[in-house]
Amino acid sequence: MIKYGVIGCGAIHGVHCEALQNIEGAHLVGVFDIVYERAEQTATKFGVTPFKTIQELFAAVDAVTVCVPSGLHAEIGIQAARAGLHVLVEKPIDVTLEKATALVEACEDAGVKFATVSQHRFSDQVRKLHDAAQSGGLGTLLQGDAYIKWYRTQAYYDSGDWRGTWKLDGGGCLINQGVHYIDMIQWIMGGVKSVQAQVRTAAHDIEVEDIANALVEYKNGAIGVIQGSTSFYPGLAERLEVHGRHGSVILEGDKPKLWKVDQVAANEGLYGGGVLMQPTPSLHLHDQEDIVANAASDPTAVWGEQHRLQIEDFTNAIINDGEPFMTDRMALEPLKIIMAIYESSRRGGAKVELA
Ligand SMILES: NC(=O)c1ccc[n+]([C@@H]2O[C@H](COP(=O)([O-])OP(=O)(O)OC[C@H]3O[C@@H](n4cnc5c(N)ncnc54)[C@H](O)[C@@H]3O)[C@@H](O)[C@H]2O)c1
Repeated sequence: MIKYGVIGCGAIHGVHCEALQNIEGAHLVGVFDIVYERAEQTATKFGVTPFKTIQELFAAVDAVTVCVPSGLHAEIGIQAARAGLHVLVEKPIDVTLEKATALVEACEDAGVKFATVSQHRFSDQVRKLHDAAQSGGLGTLLQGDAYIKWYRTQAYYDSGDWRGTWKLDGGGCLINQGVHYIDMIQWIMGGVKSVQAQVRTAAHDIEVEDIANALVEYKNGAIGVIQGSTSFYPGLAERLEVHGRHGSVILEGDKPKLWKVDQVAANEGLYGGGVLMQPTPSLHLHDQEDIVANAASDPTAVWGEQHRLQIEDFTNAIINDGEPFMTDRMALEPLKIIMAIYESSRRGGAKVELA
C-alpha cells in the first residue's frame, strides 16, 4: 500500500483525494496547505490527517501529489524528493525550464518516481489517435492542430493572487489551460521542431497572454496550428485535428467528431503507413449544450476519471518499480513549446527552433 499526502488544498486537490481513495494500492494519509483551515476542511471531508507542517506530512507518507500554484511545483517537489518521496506534480511541470529540469534531476538523483499530470493522455480516444498517427494508420502525417478556444472571466483571474502572473502561473492561456492540448498534439504528431507565434493580452486585466496563435513545424515535417485563448465567450470545446495522406481525425473534448480513413489507400499502403484503421463505430457528435458545458468555460470542470487512471498508473509504477506511462521528462516538451511560442512572439513572430 503506497501512503500518499496531497499538498495544496485548492480547486484541483479534491480530484486527487477522491482518486486516491479509489485506487487499489494507494492510501491517502493526509493533506497539507499553507492555509491550515483548508487542510482541515479537506481532512474532515475525506477522513484523513491535516498536517500542520510539510515536514510532518513528509514523515508520514511514501509519495505526494503537488497541487499548489504552478510556479511552486519544483520547489515543493524537490523538497519531497530529497525526503525520499515519490512525486506527482500537477501540470504544468513548473513555469520555467530551469526549475522544471531541476525537479526532474532531483527526482532522478533521489531515485524516486516522478511524473506530471497530463490526464488526457489517459483518454482512450487520445491514445487511439496517437497510436493511429504514429503507426502510419492515417498515412504520412501532413498537419496537426490544437484549438483551445476557452473562456475565463476576470473574476477567475482575480480568484487567486497567483493566477495570470508570470511568476506563479508562468503565462496565461497557453501554459495554464492550453498545456494539456499542446502536450497531446506534440505527442500525437511526434514532437515539435519550430514555432512562429503571436500572443497578446486582449480581454483581461492580467500580465500574461489571453490569446495565442502559433504556426508549428513538427519534427516529421508536418505543419500545424496551436491556438489558445481564455477570451472567447462562451468557451468552445477544445479540438485536436490531425490530417494524414489517407485520413483525418477530429477529437472534440476528447471525443471523436470525425474519424475518416480512406480504407483503399490504407489497405494498399498508399501515401505512407499502411496500418489498417477501423473507423470508430460510434461517431459521437456533440450538441450545442455539450460544447459549452465543460472546462471550456468552467474552471472547476475536470474529468476525475482520467486523473484516477494516471494516479493509478503512477502508483503501479512505484509498486512494480516500473516507469510511469507519463515518464519523468515528457512534461518538459510542452513547456519547451510554450516557452518557444512566448519567445517567438516577443521577437515579432520570428521562427524559434526547439532545442
Ligand atoms: N490537471 C488539471 O486539469 C488541472 C486543473 C486545475 C488546476 N491544475 C493545476 O493545479 C495547480 C493548483 O491549481 P488550483 O486551481 O487548485 O489552485 P488554487 O489556488 O485553487 O489552490 C492552490 C492551493 O495551494 C495552497 N498553497 C499555496 N502555496 C502553498 C505552499 N507553499 N504549500 C502548501 N500549499 C500551498 C493554497 O493555499 C491553495 O489552497 C496548478 O498548478 C494548476 O495548473 C490542474
